[in-house]
Amino acid sequence: MTQAVGAGRATGFELLADLVADGDVVVLSGAGLSTESGIPDYRGETGRRRRATPMTYQTFVGSAEARRRYWARSHLGWRHVARAAPNAGHRAVAELQRRGLVTGIIAQNVDGLHQAAGATGVIELHGSLDRVRCLDCGERTPRDDLDRRLREANPGWAARAAEFNPDGDAVLTDEEVAAFRIVDCAGCGGVLKPDVIFFGENVPPDRVRTCYDLTERAGVLLVLGSSLTVMSGYRFVRHADRHAVPVAIVNQGPTRGDGHATVILDAPLGATLTALVARLTSR
Ligand SMILES: NC(=O)c1ccc[n+]([C@@H]2O[C@H](COP(=O)([O-])OP(=O)(O)OC[C@H]3O[C@@H](n4cnc5c(N)ncnc54)[C@H](O)[C@@H]3O)[C@@H](O)[C@H]2O)c1
Ligand SMILES: [Zn+2]
Repeated sequence: MTQAVGAGRATGFELLADLVADGDVVVLSGAGLSTESGIPDYRGETGRRRRATPMTYQTFVGSAEARRRYWARSHLGWRHVARAAPNAGHRAVAELQRRGLVTGIIAQNVDGLHQAAGATGVIELHGSLDRVRCLDCGERTPRDDLDRRLREANPGWAARAAEFNPDGDAVLTDEEVAAFRIVDCAGCGGVLKPDVIFFGENVPPDRVRTCYDLTERAGVLLVLGSSLTVMSGYRFVRHADRHAVPVAIVNQGPTRGDGHATVILDAPLGATLTALVARLTSR
């Protein structure tokens, strides 16, 4: 085991480096990994400022008005997500995968930034905002197609709404929402939903099973930027613990998984993961 210089015992960072150096790392990432790309989280600093109330599946499916509000907000918010670029944290994860140390990536995020940084085989636990699914015929289509159709159906709307909402994700007025026209499935006229798992909706069982299997076989489960408040991600931490797979957490602030963790680093992800890659290179 590597000793921290002068400290007389291994620091958390050195323990993390040891665990990752042994390989078979399965990453479980969350919203905190993308805040440095300018996408707010829910429960960290950026989320608290925004006071976001997430859409539930039941509300979305049960109310045409809720869907209009969702798509109107999302029509502006999507530009922000589509423009976001991966940060040093995403790049470090992709680099660890290229080196064969990371064998699985379970992303709770829906922003596609792991892949944009070059990671492959990413399991999108909660789906992705860059696809749209028809609730009636089940067809999946690119978000860019819907974006084009929404622009055509709402000439000038985004520019007018954005005048009042400079950050692109602020709450729209009732008038702005009422003026927004949503479009239906081009194939069957059915209801369109982003291909993401909303609160109140279950992740498909085969996807969950794949993640349990990955977790069981892991050398370490590495949690990056997730408060683990949502059971959907937390269950894999509990599963790792049950199977004696060590859990390492890098997250600013407490998480629900802290009691299961062998190593906890309360530190910013971009700098920490970049240092980790450098540390492993110098060994
Ligand atoms: N980018 C996205 O796709 C996005 C954005 C918001 C929410 N969501 C989804 O909503 C759910 C929210 O749960 P969650 O646990 O992922 O997020 P969360 O908001 O509950 O927790 C994020 C954690 O990351 C920490 N954090 C923020 N920036 C950090 C940084 N730079 N370095 C280190 N730590 C940092 C925060 O303090 C917080 O504890 C998930 O499904 C999530 O993916 C996705
Ligand atoms: Zn359809």
